[in-house]
Amino acid sequence: MTIPANLYAERMQPKTDVVSLREMIEASLSRRAFMNIAVTGACAAVMSSSSQHAESASSGVEPYPSSLRAPLFLFKNVPPSQSDLLVIPDGYIADVLYRWGDPINGVSPQFKYDASNTADEQALQAGMGHDGMEFFTIPGRDPNQNGLLAVNHEYTDQALLFPEGMGPMPPVLMPLEKVRKSMASHGVSIVEIAKSPEGKWNVVDSKLARRITADTPMLISGPAKSEIGGSVRGTVNNCAAGRTPWGTYLTCEENFQNLFGTLSETFEPNEVQKRYGLRRAGAAYPVNGKLVGAYRWWEQDPRFDLAKADNDSNRFGYVVEIDPFSPDSKPVKRTALGRIKHENAELVVAPDGSIIVYMGDDEMNEFVYKFVSAKKWNPQEPQSKPSDVSLLDEGILYVAKFNADGTGRWLALIPGENGIPVKKSPEDKDGFDAASICIRTRQAATIAGATPMDRPEWVTVHPQTKEVYVSLTNNKSRKETHPANPRAINLFGHILRWKEEGDDPTAMNFAWQVFVMAGNPAHKEPTNHGNVIGDSFGCPDGLKFDSSGVLWIQTDMASSVIGKEGYAELGNNMMLAADPISGEARRFLTGPRGCEITGMTMTPDRKTMFVNIQHPGEPADEVSDPAAPASYSNWPDAVQGGRPRSATVAIRKQDGGTIGS
Ligand code: FEO
Ligand code: CA
Ligand code: CA
Repeated sequence: MTIPANLYAERMQPKTDVVSLREMIEASLSRRAFMNIAVTGACAAVMSSSSQHAESASSGVEPYPSSLRAPLFLFKNVPPSQSDLLVIPDGYIADVLYRWGDPINGVSPQFKYDASNTADEQALQAGMGHDGMEFFTIPGRDPNQNGLLAVNHEYTDQALLFPEGMGPMPPVLMPLEKVRKSMASHGVSIVEIAKSPEGKWNVVDSKLARRITADTPMLISGPAKSEIGGSVRGTVNNCAAGRTPWGTYLTCEENFQNLFGTLSETFEPNEVQKRYGLRRAGAAYPVNGKLVGAYRWWEQDPRFDLAKADNDSNRFGYVVEIDPFSPDSKPVKRTALGRIKHENAELVVAPDGSIIVYMGDDEMNEFVYKFVSAKKWNPQEPQSKPSDVSLLDEGILYVAKFNADGTGRWLALIPGENGIPVKKSPEDKDGFDAASICIRTRQAATIAGATPMDRPEWVTVHPQTKEVYVSLTNNKSRKETHPANPRAINLFGHILRWKEEGDDPTAMNFAWQVFVMAGNPAHKEPTNHGNVIGDSFGCPDGLKFDSSGVLWIQTDMASSVIGKEGYAELGNNMMLAADPISGEARRFLTGPRGCEITGMTMTPDRKTMFVNIQHPGEPADEVSDPAAPASYSNWPDAVQGGRPRSATVAIRKQDGGTIGS
């Protein structure tokens, strides 16, 4: 059974007339139909009826009829913005809580606006590039007034991190102090936060406060341990996150290839290294017409030198488990979850107690994964703290194959299955054993026949229906369209959702559907209009359900396109609330210039939402000017001589209600 080709053409060319009430109801019913289906031949019919949603898409439509169902959110949307402000709806308050350079104990060392804090000071302050995060309640305390916030620091803008920027230029080596400060700006923060009597959240002094950096000793567990050893220093490029039901934090290593390189002019990456983007210069930018590595850590630390035989490049690219309540505990890299450019790790417990982790590999034409634990979780057992043995160490890693007919299948990454050759000897570089599945995960997934996707970013699971949603942020390189990735050049991205067979997350089959094509209705090319009901957006990235079933969408349009032709009408990056049944998206906030919105967590009462504003002030070429660091943004401080700072903000309602109410 195949979907008629014109179905997707229809979805690409939504009509511009305002949707009728009947169409709205039909669209919502088709969504409900999807929610009720099993994995049967009904998929195409569902896809067909849902095309009415596509046809009816337009901006400015009325919200989903409240006579049928209580609306999920009531706030008045904010307009698109190109200002250097964080804009939130009327009736809401946003307080800046934790900025790059803020001390983890709330007291010292204080941030210096000329970026002259030392590496040792930086190791006691918030890192840069805030990304995924989770709020943890502290046993015995009021869970809505006090807690731990675990915050990822994804990467550093080297031109903002130091008073004089990225230099000195080669052949002068990158000074050790600068390498150490850059390493101290990566990783994770664990900070304790508390709400004042006036309702404002602050970072407070705490024995639990800690920084985890690119230098923190950690353990390696799971199948890859036999090949890469049981220990390593550091976690880097900590993108999005996850949490376990036993109270630990999962931080996900994404673009680790940026930090590896070498001065060796004879080094050539092998095929495996190439697949992960490892190369001589690491992340590099043109400076005076020459490509110069932004980080050059390898000039001071052989761990990051690709020409060194036992460099650490196979020890990064993992999901790392951290116990936020044990400041002396070593984080553990869980290699059973695969080595990819991990975005987030969405963990659910199956009815039989299996632990399921959904994950995206964020690169053009990479894949969506699912881990199913071998052993079951028993909530009655004492909390299992991270150690070198865990439910996350034994299981099967699967990769998703999206069939064109709306069905899908999970392909096991097991040597000898799905065409994956078994390793015959230690010298056999093409075959796989359990360790190499966890190190050369991308290669195994390709052999198995996974479906190349348009940059899988966050995965989130609906708290009640257990449907799984993934954001596919964009892809300029697609050669052939596929119903699950229907644009040849996908500038604005889309969100896909699937339902596991029998609502069992351990199932091997699923039914999928495009939830929404993002886009700009004012774009000159109809294929880029998208079919968003409500407020349009581009490049969905952060994606997270709250406990009430609101789907929060965060965008990451690149700095090179924000405000430019084709994107101008969308303004700065934003965060929206979406209704998974009606499909309506409503703009909740807009960020300052050059930023990306990423990372969201809430207090259990949903009265405080924490959101991260990443890289405010990033210029179009992504290279800040150290002589004028605030030329694009001076958010959030807007002080003379200041510079933009990634930050966590705490958002609450003036009337004390739940977020969105
Ligand atoms: Fe760190 Fe794919 O975003
Ligand atoms: Ca992201
Ligand atoms: Ca992104």
